[in-house]
Amino acid sequence: MARCRVCGAPAVICYPESRLCLCRDHFLEHFESKVERTLRRYRLVREGGFVLAAVSGGKDSAALLGVLSRLSSRLGFRLAAVHIDLGIGEYSRRSREAAVRLARELGVPLAVIDLRELLGLGVPELAVKARRPPCSVCGLVKRYLTNAAGVEACADAVALGHNADDLAVYALKSFLTQDLEAIPKLGPGTESIPGLAVGRIRPLYLASEKESFLYAYLSGLPFNHEECPHASRRLLEFILKEHLASLESRRPGLRTQFLAKLAKRLNDYPKPEGEPRPCRHCGLLSWGECSFCRLTRRILGEPMGPKAREYVRAKLEEAGAVMCRG
Ligand code: AMP
Ligand code: FES
Ligand code: ZN
Ligand code: ZN
Repeated sequence: MARCRVCGAPAVICYPESRLCLCRDHFLEHFESKVERTLRRYRLVREGGFVLAAVSGGKDSAALLGVLSRLSSRLGFRLAAVHIDLGIGEYSRRSREAAVRLARELGVPLAVIDLRELLGLGVPELAVKARRPPCSVCGLVKRYLTNAAGVEACADAVALGHNADDLAVYALKSFLTQDLEAIPKLGPGTESIPGLAVGRIRPLYLASEKESFLYAYLSGLPFNHEECPHASRRLLEFILKEHLASLESRRPGLRTQFLAKLAKRLNDYPKPEGEPRPCRHCGLLSWGECSFCRLTRRILGEPMGPKAREYVRAKLEEAGAVMCRG
């Protein structure tokens, strides 16, 4: 049986690239210092700053909120969380329940944004009306509402729970489809554009899915183990994930080396042309009309961005998750 390199207790994980094996306690410590190094190296948080963590109720966001709540006092930033109930039946009900329990156990203020309460429809119905795949509508809604929440809360950044496995897949997909403009957005952090968009940070940038799962599980954090019923094994992302896992097992460390190198070269990739402008309806980031206002105008007859911002702000205030001055 593998033993912890530090204390000799039975190991819960071994890293083949460094032949490092660790027991539960030393793994939890190792994970926290890895995330702390990521936050420091890429300057993702600042002392006195305010981070709003986007919590889905799954394992990655449980690890995210767990580790950020431990690091927030050490690094001197304030932390709150936001969960979006996407209205996907039992899956969303259980995810919401897990997010609420998680935030309560960690003592982090949480605002719950309920899509059905806001629009009268959940992701499945929106997708049918928009004649688009549920995941694409869902991604659009999540991007819009997490950004709106970050702006309304006056957060310095919205923290996302993407792990290294996810990000390597997205980056590879962007190369293969030559969607090169997507690459700069896949780094450890993006800058805020005052009034229009809040920066997005990925504290788990260099942590694998396995580490993220183990951290949440071994810390006893509540999370929903189910996969979204709309997740499809036929998607290119899923296929790439399998291939990358097989490459990683033959070349341990490849994934994080790739991401660390990519993070240094993000400025070499093309950026969208033209200046970002406020959406003419809701005022958030767009190139004229934002995708959320366009989608809701088409299927509900009204651009819902302004109402969404008001609703999100009320929920954040109710949760004590706003830090606007003046
Ligand atoms: P996904 O887009 O599902 O891969 O999720 C990526 C990240 O977005 C998660 O790690 C969370 O930080 C955030 N996220 C996803 N779903 C939700 C949700 N329902 N509510 C709040 N944040 C979410
Ligand atoms: Fe969005 Fe599955 S979580 S469609
Ligand atoms: Zn140990
Ligand atoms: Zn808008």
